[in-house]
Amino acid sequence: MSTVLPRPGAAPATRNGTAAAPRPARVRPAARRRGLTAGIFGIGSALPERVVTNRDLEQVLDTSDEWIVRRTGIRERRRLGEGELLAPLATQACADALADAGRTADEVDVVLVSTVTPDRVTPGLAPEIARALGATGASAVDLSAACAGFLYALDHAAALVESGRAGVVLVCAAEALSRIVDHTDRSTAVLFGDGVGAVVVAGGDLDLGLAGFVLGADGEQADLLYADAEARVLRMQGQEVYRHAVRRMSAATAEALQRAGLTTDDVDLFVAHQANRRIIDAVAAELHVPSEKVVLDVHRAANTSSASIPLALHQAERDGLLKPGMTVALAAFGAGFVWGAGVVAWKERVHACA
Ligand code: UT7
Repeated sequence: MSTVLPRPGAAPATRNGTAAAPRPARVRPAARRRGLTAGIFGIGSALPERVVTNRDLEQVLDTSDEWIVRRTGIRERRRLGEGELLAPLATQACADALADAGRTADEVDVVLVSTVTPDRVTPGLAPEIARALGATGASAVDLSAACAGFLYALDHAAALVESGRAGVVLVCAAEALSRIVDHTDRSTAVLFGDGVGAVVVAGGDLDLGLAGFVLGADGEQADLLYADAEARVLRMQGQEVYRHAVRRMSAATAEALQRAGLTTDDVDLFVAHQANRRIIDAVAAELHVPSEKVVLDVHRAANTSSASIPLALHQAERDGLLKPGMTVALAAFGAGFVWGAGVVAWKERVHACA
């Protein structure tokens, strides 16, 4: 099915090709910030052991290392082994995040897991991760928002903490895209990988915390990137998705900064969904974020859907690029379409206490 992109200001096209009435511009209410502010206090991540390089893919697909690196920036990706489960990897990442935050499993009130590739259709990953961690007092639920799932989960976690409904929320993004990729389709098989990232969200007397979150969705564009329930194979119109991704992430990040009362100059690091280096560079250029502030992890882990942002954050911290107190802008875009952006003061209270 071909889909025509609406021109700026034009009525958006619907799925059957007819023009829908233009949506009136909506003024978004500023997020209420009172009392306790939610922030990130710890991080963990985990990758499967199996490395699949571009050279490995050259052996089974009509592709080349040169094409993949030039068009995407990806050099290798990790994949779960045959029959290997995601839950143990996710549990490891969550345990590391808790240790990093100086928290124990029995303090966790909610385990919130973003995934589109759980080990079972039901139950979700979250109850198993909570069990394996020993978070027996926690509620546990999966959330499905494709590549934007980590930002959706962060926003939900912040709302739970700031409303007083939860004290400690474990946010985990756990993905095994190798399970739903068509391994014979070179246009998608080379792009995706498996991995997990997790953070601990709690409240504190913070200046910024998790601020300015902007989330969006446009179901009209679902056919450009989807996996059907029966076939369970990812299909994507790459170029179309690329254009939407740049536009949505740029606009959402600008709005998130504005809502947080900040400008691009205040951003110490920019961490976007790691789908394609060219997309990240285009969004950074649109926002006037200099390249030295742009975190790239796509060469190492490829597109791990919602796990890509926490994986990139953790790697940036390990590389010494991300330090407590830094202001980080986050942006993501994925199937739905769904997108999001937010601003985070990285481990702000750790910084304040140091
Ligand atoms: O995570 C959710 C969001 N996802 C994204 O944001 C992904 C968005 N899209 C993209 O990142 C890019 O569109 C791709 C990386 C998927 C593709 O890059 P592109 O520069 O848009 O390439 P293209 O689709 O226009 O294809 C160019 C050529 C085609 O050949 P012809 O028709 O010019 O002869 C493709 O058949 O490259 C060919 N091609 C490949 N060649 C070698 C497509 N995949 C491959 C491949 N190896 N793996």
